[in-house]
Amino acid sequence: MLDEKQKGDLVAAAIKARKSSYSPYSSYAVGAALLTEKGELYTGSNIENAAYPMSICAERVAAFKAISAEDRAFKAIAVVTRDGGFPCGACRQVLSEFGLDAEVIIADDNGRILEESTVSDLLPGAFSPSNLKSS
Ligand code: THU
Repeated sequence: MLDEKQKGDLVAAAIKARKSSYSPYSSYAVGAALLTEKGELYTGSNIENAAYPMSICAERVAAFKAISAEDRAFKAIAVVTRDGGFPCGACRQVLSEFGLDAEVIIADDNGRILEESTVSDLLPGAFSPSNLKSS
């Protein structure tokens, strides 16, 4: 469990990351800050595209930065939006692969924590790597 200071630091990092959002189509800026078990921090913002489906969420940008650094054990993620939006289903699935028990902290752009949850609570019955193990 993160303590209050760690939560505040993670939310502050997500607020900062949100400033780099490229979201001219939705005008919905999202910032994410991901903490790994190693203690490393990876941030992300949503990046949209004129070909709309090519857009990517802030959470997956942060997650893929961590994975591409071979840092695969997720401890917590803070997500900041203007209204306390939750991670979408696709992001929940990606996060579940690397941290089913990871804490999810939902905050607004004033740094107010609105919800605290875990990836497993947000994605019950997640399809997981164990489903693909041969018997
Ligand atoms: N978005 C995120 O970055 N994370 C989510 O979990 C939900 C949605 C982005 C995608 C798009 O750029 C904008 O928010 C509006 O859907």
